[in-house]
Amino acid sequence: MELTSLHSRSTFAGKRVLLGVTGGIAAYKAAVLLREFQKLGATVQVVMTEQAQQFVGSMTFAALTNMPVRTSLNDEQAELSMGHIELARWADVFIIAPASANTIAKLAYGIADNLLTTIALASEKPLFVAPAMNQKMWAHTATQENIATLRQRGIAIIGPGNGEQACGDVGSGRMSEPEEIVATIAAQMSADVIQAPELSGSNAEHLPLLGKKVMLTAGPTREPIDPVRYISNHSSGRMGYALAEQFALVGAEVTLVSGPVCLQPPAGVTKVSINSAEQLLAAVMAQISEQDIFVSVAAVADYRPATVAEQKMKKNPAAINSAEKQNLQIELTENPDILRTVSGLMHDRPFCVGFAAETEKVVEHARNKLLNKRLDMICANQVGSEQIGFGDKPNALEVLWQDGSTSIAMTDKTDLARQLVPVITERYCATITS
Ligand code: C5P
Repeated sequence: MELTSLHSRSTFAGKRVLLGVTGGIAAYKAAVLLREFQKLGATVQVVMTEQAQQFVGSMTFAALTNMPVRTSLNDEQAELSMGHIELARWADVFIIAPASANTIAKLAYGIADNLLTTIALASEKPLFVAPAMNQKMWAHTATQENIATLRQRGIAIIGPGNGEQACGDVGSGRMSEPEEIVATIAAQMSADVIQAPELSGSNAEHLPLLGKKVMLTAGPTREPIDPVRYISNHSSGRMGYALAEQFALVGAEVTLVSGPVCLQPPAGVTKVSINSAEQLLAAVMAQISEQDIFVSVAAVADYRPATVAEQKMKKNPAAINSAEKQNLQIELTENPDILRTVSGLMHDRPFCVGFAAETEKVVEHARNKLLNKRLDMICANQVGSEQIGFGDKPNALEVLWQDGSTSIAMTDKTDLARQLVPVITERYCATITS
């Protein structure tokens, strides 16, 4: 996660953060999260559910905040000073971390049977939810439907992460790390992404991509020759993964269809793994009608072997016994152009962004591709030299659309993605409102 603390500091300095803590072992991480907000200059008020107090005592949070922790709707004294409605108004931002499956379900159905869920119903402030639960509970259809409901309502879901869980299971459901939660909120609230002068009102107003579905393709494809050999290319997947992360940070629901690469999918991103161009096409088309934006970063092989040998191909015996070199010919057939297939859709065509890696005449070739592939936008980069292009090398982009263009100067891929997502967002918003 690469977001400068300066960026987060300017977001949180002087802000009032309402931190809701629900029942789960990750409740102890809420204390670290609280400290992170405080370090960035925010004032934090904690609200705990009854279950949360079984995991961490309210004294911990009271000592860290120097303020009484609010735990009950029926606390006469507390309601006299700052009632639940005032608390909802007081906050600039409301974050529930960890958010249990139970609380998520209550939020989805508008149940207000404790202080935390009552405030959630009374609050108009941006709400961020960091789920934490056992991987089976997270994967359960009920939870997934509730999460989808919250997303549709413009509530930002942060994580959960993948990995080993307190219960011994391995999978998705771990609460995102506190630094990641802070960085995600900072990115979503940041002026350079959303150009909102001040936070007020609902999430949807300030986060144009919140809840929007973005699909990206990334990495190389592998085109099999036989069961052990393939044709591929040097793509590392870094550009696509960096973009997927930035889209997730601004609240989009991101699906990353990825060829084989050595990268972990970013938090909150759904990854679909493929090998060949034909598998890539099938994975993309299975979900494309639901997508708002399609960003094709994958380096798809233009050709594949016309036939795939069932067994490992043997060297020609003549080649073994002969001093003379023997040539082997493999017939190639053209692969489908996935981006062109998507951009050519008559119904439910998403906003289409292509990438063009060129070794010469970058802008000229890219403009031709923009027209030929009927794209909304194309990002062109120079490849082929030692210093720029593939892998973790820096790159520069020329971004073109029908009646405009912009350049992003040479920088690393995380920074490129950070600068490119607002450009795509702006063009996407201009397209859907025109
Ligand atoms: O035509 P060219 O391969 O240069 O176009 C590059 C763009 O088209 C990229 O966005 C790439 O992901 C996409 N593409 C594709 N399917 C192919 C070839 C390229 O989606 N078979």
